[in-house]
Amino acid sequence: MACGDTVEHGVPLPAEARAWRVIRALAGYARRTATDPRHPSRLCGDADGIPDALRVGDPGNRHWTWRPDQGWVAARPAADPVERDLLDLYLPLCVPVVDGCRVTAHLGQSLDGYIATANGDSCFVTGPDNIRHLHRMRALSDGVLVGTETAARDDPRLTTRLVPGANPVRVILDRQRRLGSHLRVFTDGAAVTLLCCDRAQVTAGHDRQGQARIIGLPTRDGRLDLTALLETLAELGLRRIFVEGGGATVSAFLTAGLLDRLQIAVAPLLIGTGRPGLRIPAPERLADAPRPVVRLFRMGADLLYDLDLRRGSTAALLTPVTRIL
Ligand SMILES: NC(=O)c1ccc[n+]([C@@H]2O[C@H](COP(=O)([O-])OP(=O)(O)OC[C@H]3O[C@@H](n4cnc5c(N)ncnc54)[C@H](OP(=O)(O)O)[C@@H]3O)[C@@H](O)[C@H]2O)c1
Repeated sequence: MACGDTVEHGVPLPAEARAWRVIRALAGYARRTATDPRHPSRLCGDADGIPDALRVGDPGNRHWTWRPDQGWVAARPAADPVERDLLDLYLPLCVPVVDGCRVTAHLGQSLDGYIATANGDSCFVTGPDNIRHLHRMRALSDGVLVGTETAARDDPRLTTRLVPGANPVRVILDRQRRLGSHLRVFTDGAAVTLLCCDRAQVTAGHDRQGQARIIGLPTRDGRLDLTALLETLAELGLRRIFVEGGGATVSAFLTAGLLDRLQIAVAPLLIGTGRPGLRIPAPERLADAPRPVVRLFRMGADLLYDLDLRRGSTAALLTPVTRIL
């Protein structure tokens, strides 16, 4: 069978679905490798390159090798450009995380830098391809986190309903316990939900808000201590955290140096004035402004800037614009 001929129920699998299967398999494998170092670092695929945990160690037609310095390396590159682009974008996230948390944040913003109108309307800044990307990011994460305003304004479900994959644990920041119990994350039972608040807001014997578990945290300078938050999430086994907004929350993680990757999707939209995306301390000299290593991915009419914040802040290394569906 040729590489492009993977079939399910007699129907050929499109390149996108095939790539997503590979990505999910490698993400799951990385999770198991992190908790059990006896797992071999080579993963074999079936004839179509889709890794199957049951086939680990078999000589495969197309196998994947985990190299700590390079990430996942395929013995044979994907021939289909759609499959190649999806693997390029997501495989750097499918890594074993042994210590602490690996944190990626995302914002979808207009050309003029806003993530919502002034009254908080953000449905939708970016197009359907970027929205599907968000669902994929959730599926690759152990926890998806949003700030108080986002939970209140959007009443998001934070599930993976647009793609195959498990729902992550939902982590809602609500320092002052301002959010109402009617919100969907507290009532729908679609996934485990943690409500993170100032520990002074926790009352003995009351450890639930709706279906969510309440986690009390220390504060620093009147804000939730995000380092303590990540330590708590790691203790709970949540090591891949996806911060999905809003601007204040992503900015706080970035300013605290807690982000490994920052993804900004820019949509061809002009809002005029509205809720800003990033708000970070401003350097006096342009030469001191960070220029992270960046990769660009096209998502329909939107452009995703995928910044690797752990590879230093050097002159931007631009890779050619690639296409994601
Ligand atoms: N386009 C997108 O990608 C996207 C994504 C998500 C949301 N949104 C939109 O964005 C809007 C919400 O974003 P937002 O930026 O206003 O709010 P947010 O990040 O969702 O939540 C803001 C909360 O974070 C806390 N906060 C504020 N400054 C902080 C700081 N410096 N450090 C730590 N915590 C801080 C405050 O809570 P405490 O004072 O209680 O600590 C504040 O209420 C909504 O309109 C939503 O629809 C857009």
